[in-house]
Amino acid sequence: MDANRLTAEGHARRRFLLGTASLGVVAHTPSLFAAEDAPLVASAHVERGALAPVRLQVNGRDYMLSLEPRVTLLDALREYIGLTGTKKGCDRGQCGACTVLVNDRRINACLALAIAHQGDRIRTVEGLAPHGALHAVQAAFVERDGFQCGYCTPGQICSAVAMLQEARSDTISAATQDVRQRGPIALTDAEIRERMSGNLCRCGAYVGIVAAVRDAATRST
Ligand code: FES
Ligand code: FES
Repeated sequence: MDANRLTAEGHARRRFLLGTASLGVVAHTPSLFAAEDAPLVASAHVERGALAPVRLQVNGRDYMLSLEPRVTLLDALREYIGLTGTKKGCDRGQCGACTVLVNDRRINACLALAIAHQGDRIRTVEGLAPHGALHAVQAAFVERDGFQCGYCTPGQICSAVAMLQEARSDTISAATQDVRQRGPIALTDAEIRERMSGNLCRCGAYVGIVAAVRDAATRST
């Protein structure tokens, strides 16, 4: 897993869920992992949680929602706003399919609470091509066949957009040969693989993904 991932958000979410369980306010939600979540709330009194007004700015547009505070950013985007480009793979921070940009940094939306991102600039894959013209990273994925089934692709592309910016701002990775060097990081294949390691592809399209990111790095993104 990429060390740059904001795992603190995941910890915060788990602490929140544990806290609400002990207070007896965790409500049942249909979920791919409902069965595994069950022990957490088994002894808690279950009732529907209160709704809170949540204002999100997504792809330059404001959305006023009414959500339970435990709703993740991923579910808010997909189930409430209807932006289904962002995918749910594992729903637990392991696959990167849900990667979105928050204030230009990549995060796993399944580990973030929507209510915690009011006032932030959220960008999803839909926001990368607002007027129909593909973003340079999207175009490179098409040209290099950086996908097969395409399920991981929105997350891969959002992650690559932020990753290229990280490299331009001299952010080192575990693969950086000389951590004392100044200036933009040379994006070798090893650098790209390390920096994209938080995004898994079950189809194994990694050769095309690395080639696409390498191409995109030479273009204006
Ligand atoms: S769905 Fe978020 S990391 Fe897998
Ligand atoms: S293209 Fe199918 S999971 Fe990546």
